[in-house]
Formats: sequence, structure tokens, C-alpha cells
Amino acid sequence: MARNKVTVIGAGNVGATTAQRIAEAGLADVVLVDIVEGLPQGKGLDLAEAAPVVGHDAAILGTNDYADTAGSDIIVVTSGIPRKPGMSRDDLIATNAGIVGGVVKSAAAVSPDAIIIVVTNPLDVMCHVAMQASGFPRERVLGMAGVLDSARFRTFIARELGVSVVDVHAFVLGGHGDTMVPLSRYSTVAGVPITELLPPDRVKALEDRTANGGAEIVGLLKTGSAFYAPAASTFEMVDAILRDRKRVLPCATYLTGEFGVDGLYVGVPVVLGRGGLERVFEIELTAEERVAFDKSVNAVRELVAALPA
Ligand code: APR
Repeated sequence: MARNKVTVIGAGNVGATTAQRIAEAGLADVVLVDIVEGLPQGKGLDLAEAAPVVGHDAAILGTNDYADTAGSDIIVVTSGIPRKPGMSRDDLIATNAGIVGGVVKSAAAVSPDAIIIVVTNPLDVMCHVAMQASGFPRERVLGMAGVLDSARFRTFIARELGVSVVDVHAFVLGGHGDTMVPLSRYSTVAGVPITELLPPDRVKALEDRTANGGAEIVGLLKTGSAFYAPAASTFEMVDAILRDRKRVLPCATYLTGEFGVDGLYVGVPVVLGRGGLERVFEIELTAEERVAFDKSVNAVRELVAALPA
């Protein structure tokens, strides 16, 4: 059986850490791509030299040439630039849309059957760019955000209650940003909703911390943004797809009527398997949740409108 091949575009913090996780799990051969010459080659070689110690035999190649990515099963897109001081939100969108559109075009041309996982921010908008640039159907263009957001929520819930993160499940919906909607009544410890375990003000505090989870890390790091948890979350999606696990994971998904939304990428729970998006996992929202969800959807719609024509 041919080995799986995953291309990771962007050999920065998130990309290189994702490549490391995939290789060390022996899940697939990895091609690491960046625009900077030497960077993917150096990190790729360094990762390969860890293999004898770790004991895996995944091949890792660092390159600036998309020809090396041909025939990939999955393309992970992390390339982009962070928002710099003085840069407007729209400037960032235009710059990263140019980067993501360009790399996706190059990569999709040589891997026409691949599944694309977008990680570059602003996430929901970059998913639109990737779908357009690739011409792939929605089943094969997904964004990583909800797994990370719910991992953050799980971490905070587990710490608050002094229980293992393993026994905590959390549910988040909506765009990847401060309007995201943590759904506490579906967030549980061993099956018990946290709304029955914590007073409302504590639940609200955990939800707010989750919605601002990315900014909290940026504030601590001063330069750069989170990458360990984003890479672990991306890995979980890659693993669900390559091993056809039918995991139910929150992913940025192009909705075509589900949750009352048409023609927009929004984070919702989906079934992930070898075909990529296999099913949208639709649930009923309460009136209050619907208001928060609509607000989040509108925030995504505004960002998409800021995309250069
Ligand atoms: N082609 C290929 N690689 C590119 C291109 C391009 N056109 N433009 C930029 N890159 C590369 C950069 O050279 C850099 O190595 O993308 C990499 C981005 O890495 P970092 O700056 O370390 O950013 P990182 O922390 O990895 O975050 C990447 O993921 O979570 C999101 O918000 C985050 O959008 C950001 C992305």
C-alpha cells in the first residue's frame, strides 16, 4: 500500500510543529514547503535526523518547489504573515489572501485529489480563498479552528473542576474569533453538562476566556502566536481523515443551508473521514444561542466582504 503523503505549506511555528507531529506518529510522509529558501530544507533535515531517536520511518522533505508536493493526500496551509503594528485588518486580509490563494493554486494543481486544511488566519476568510483558488468541492476544503477552540475550553473546564482533560468534552460553534460561540450545555464532564456543575458566572468566565484564547497567548508571548495547540489540533484532523475515523470535530465548513447559513464558511461539527467532510452534524440551537451564532456568522460575512475582488 502506498504511504500517505501530507504537504505542509509554511515552515513556521505552526507548520513545522504540525509536520513533527505527523511524522513522529508515523502517520504519513511529510513535505514541508516555504517561500524562504533553506528554511524548510533545514527544518526538514532536522526533523528527519530526529527520526532514528524517535523511532519512526516517515520520510520528511523540505522544499521550495511545489513539484515535490505532487500526489499529496492532504495539504495543510499555514503560510501567511501575522498582523503587524499599524496594519489594518483589511490589509492583513489582502496580504494573506494573496499568499493563501497563490500557494493553494500551486499545490492543488499537482495534487488534484487532495483534501485541504486551512490554518492561516483570519481563518474563515482564508477558507473561502482556498476553496476559490483550488476549485475543490467543499468536502475537500476545511478549516482548523473549532478543534483548537474546544481544546482551549476543555483545558479551562478541567482546571476549574480539577478533573482530567480526557473526561471533558466541549462544543464550540461559529467563526474563529472573539464572536465564537462556546456551547456550554453541550460541554460536559463525563457526560454531565458543565451548566449543572458550575454556577452561571463561572461558566460565562470560562466561555469568555475561550473566545479570547488566542489573544491571551499573543499577550504572553509578545511576538508570535500560539502553535503547540494549533499544531496538535491540525494533527487531529489529519489523523481523522487519513485513518477514516469518522470523528465528529468542529471544523470551518462551507455551509449550504445547514444551520440556516448558505454560502459561507462557519465553524460547525462535522463527520471527518477519508472523504474529508462526510456530513454536517446539525443541532437545534436555543433562541439565545441562535443570537450569538448569528452575530458570529455576520462577523465572518463582514470579513469575507473585505476580500479584494
Ligand atoms: N509561500 C510559502 N510560505 C510562505 C509564504 C508563501 N507565499 N508567505 C509566507 N510564508 C511562510 C513564512 O515564510 C513563514 O515561515 O509562512 C510561515 C508562517 O510561519 P510563522 O510566521 O511562524 O507563523 P505561525 O505561527 O506558524 O502561524 C501561521 O497559522 O495559526 C495561524 O494565525 C496564524 O496565520 C498564522 C498561521
